[in-house]
Amino acid sequence: MGKKVTVVGAGFYGSTTAQRLAEYDVFDTVVITDIVAGRPAGLALDLNQSRPVEDFETTVVGVTTGPNGEGYEAIGGSDVVVITAGLPRKPGMSRMDLLATNARIVRQVAESVARHAPDAVVIVVSNPLDEMTALAQLASGFPKGRVLGQAGMLDTARFTNFVAEALRVPVRSVRTLTLGSHGDTMVPVPSRSTVEGRPLREAMPARQIEELVDKTRNGGAEVVALLKTGSAYYAPSAAAARMAKAVAEDSGAVLPVCAWVDGEYGISGVYLGVEAEIGAGGVRRVVETELDADELASLRAAAEAVRAKQADVADM
Ligand code: NAI
Ligand code: 2OP
Repeated sequence: MGKKVTVVGAGFYGSTTAQRLAEYDVFDTVVITDIVAGRPAGLALDLNQSRPVEDFETTVVGVTTGPNGEGYEAIGGSDVVVITAGLPRKPGMSRMDLLATNARIVRQVAESVARHAPDAVVIVVSNPLDEMTALAQLASGFPKGRVLGQAGMLDTARFTNFVAEALRVPVRSVRTLTLGSHGDTMVPVPSRSTVEGRPLREAMPARQIEELVDKTRNGGAEVVALLKTGSAYYAPSAAAARMAKAVAEDSGAVLPVCAWVDGEYGISGVYLGVEAEIGAGGVRRVVETELDADELASLRAAAEAVRAKQADVADM
């Protein structure tokens, strides 16, 4: 049977994700939903009309959903559900400022997903990311490996892009890694970063690496400050769409994602940014990588910081 993916939330993140997923041409159907009447249907019409030009056969279906789960029948049979519903940041706001509002939204969405697409892999993107991923798992009751969050791919892409720009080399020649939280305790990992196969630390001075690490941590806020009315969506949607594709293709790709960590790095019982092998059932396994002592300490500190916040969302 053909593959089906649902994107919940038809704002900037959701609509660009739906476009990328449709243009991959690996799904039979992309469903896009929102609570704003007509918006998902309008986007679906528009996207379908791009099929002859972009040359894809995937059909996009737009559905307006109600506050009590009305309309969710349309997501039945989805292999993957990407949750983008929720408010984005405004200039000066931190991702944590979104906690209470987005928790209400994500809880309601996750409950409806559990009812209508009980076998789906859920990819959460709503912020604050690590907390919303934990909440989506709690509210859906899905196995922990079947719920994951998108942040590490985006943060890693930003780090890679900044290094490539600074060194004026192709992005393809740069490999970087970012672990930890999608927030203040993000852990960029210079020890695992390379340029044309050589350690990053040989390609640029320590001070410059530190500057790019800071720029990566601040990557989302820098875009928010310029856009003024919302947050980034091109790079974020690229990341979430690739994760959904890895699930649909059961590819086994090892990607930096927000996954349930149970013993790796000496950390247990928390959703955290780590590398994981992704397949049809979600996270096949967390892949532990060698870290410097200070990087490992930062990752453990990130785990403790998000653990406290994730405990709070249980009652939200
Ligand atoms: P947006 O404001 O353009 O879109 C959000 C959409 O969610 C709106 O269309 C709204 O009507 C819809 N929505 C609200 N409640 C809903 C519900 N119960 N069911 C279905 N739809 C609902 O915001 P944007 O830019 O699309 O961002 C979405 C979320 O993604 C935000 O929370 C943002 O912070 C987060 N984000 C996360 C990133 C990450 O790396 N994890 C990166 C960028 C954004
Ligand atoms: C970002 O990193 C706001 O989380 C969003 O762009």
